[in-house]
Amino acid sequence: MNTWTPDSWRRFQALQQPDYPDQAAVDDIVIQISSLPPLVTSWEVEALRGQLAEAAAGQRFLLHGGDCAERFADCTPEIITNKLKILLQMSLVLVHGLQRRVTRVGRLAGQYAKPRSADLETRDGVALPSYRGDLVNRPEFEADARRPDPFNMLRGYTRAALTLNFVRALVVGGFADLHHPENWDLEFMGLAPAAAEYRRVVAEIGRSLQFMETISGQPAGDSGRVDFFTSHEALLLPYEQAQTRTTPKRPGWFNLATHLPWLGARTVDPGGAHVEYLRGIRNPIGIKVGPNLSPDQLIELLERLDPEGEPGRITLIHRFGIGVIEARLPPLVEAVARAGRKPLWISDPMHGNTRTTDDGLKTRSFDDILGELGHAFRIHRACGSRLGGVHFELTGDNVTECTGGARGLADGDLHRDYRSLVDPRLNYEQALEMALLIARLDEGAV
Ligand code: PEP
Ligand code: CO
Repeated sequence: MNTWTPDSWRRFQALQQPDYPDQAAVDDIVIQISSLPPLVTSWEVEALRGQLAEAAAGQRFLLHGGDCAERFADCTPEIITNKLKILLQMSLVLVHGLQRRVTRVGRLAGQYAKPRSADLETRDGVALPSYRGDLVNRPEFEADARRPDPFNMLRGYTRAALTLNFVRALVVGGFADLHHPENWDLEFMGLAPAAAEYRRVVAEIGRSLQFMETISGQPAGDSGRVDFFTSHEALLLPYEQAQTRTTPKRPGWFNLATHLPWLGARTVDPGGAHVEYLRGIRNPIGIKVGPNLSPDQLIELLERLDPEGEPGRITLIHRFGIGVIEARLPPLVEAVARAGRKPLWISDPMHGNTRTTDDGLKTRSFDDILGELGHAFRIHRACGSRLGGVHFELTGDNVTECTGGARGLADGDLHRDYRSLVDPRLNYEQALEMALLIARLDEGAV
């Protein structure tokens, strides 16, 4: 195989990249970002890899979630706090329901670039580059806004740093303290149907904590703080390259812009630039596994990205759709087992279940999402494997983008507060309700 360097991907075909008008400006931004401090550290990356290895062995569960695409304008204290809250609340419910430790990974602090089905978008005979996320260009249908601007990578990097700085402050500052789960209550949850059950779970955890502390006479272990990791799709390769560096104490290269980069479903070509880039870094890697990936291709990908079969290195995020998972998942699980590999399998029940309403809004139904998850748990069990986590597009705000859930949102309700420019997300209530139901899916009870 060729020698890997942070920019060896440039010798391979790179799909889903913008057509920058000025390559020298791109190179200059990459140099600027690479001289800035990293967002994460190599020991955090190694700690996450260890946790993912435990999840693959059935000792943990991975909760991976956040926006389809973060917007620069969403870098506000309210939106970040709400996103962190819903992920913490879901993880609390999962710890309680699954009786397993939960690893929390947010699609945040860098989830700014999006793959698109076409390079150009045409309106009234005018063709402009597609919007590829704030890391690349702006969504307004104007030539100036759609022109890819490399400076957006620097804007994105600074917003990622601001986001992560605030998340870290909240997490170590007691926001995640199990003794004070009332910090996590969102006003608009009010009398929502899942709220009562959530409060019951919280009260039960409070009682258990008190019991343990009474017995031991000291504060319970880590209940005052939690680990929180970041993740984004490793899509815009100059951005990923920019923070790929070595560290004094550990061998190898790390992408220190995020803990868990993932390979998107559209860039999984084992001979492509994205796979070339990812094979050389030591971070754990997610791989989106969709209906078009054959068992042979998956094995080839694993050989490229994880030749040594290292525990925790690979998280397979399958995303098929409720009508497709039953046919497509078993052959993949069997091929991976036959190859003697033990990756962490998690389910993304969002991306195969998107439809467009009569009004032209992209949506997903709560029941389809829950349904695909149910199949995922069952199929893994039947194949002697294990579903070790879930991947959601969600937000901590009260948007109306997915239908269903306890409030029964219908197509006609979606206009009320539809904000996503890309994929529809579970709102706060729907996400919490989903977490409450997952424990039952794991037991095969739903
Ligand atoms: C995504 O996770 O937002 C995404 C684009 O997913 P996929 O690559 O699975 O289509
Ligand atoms: Co998406």
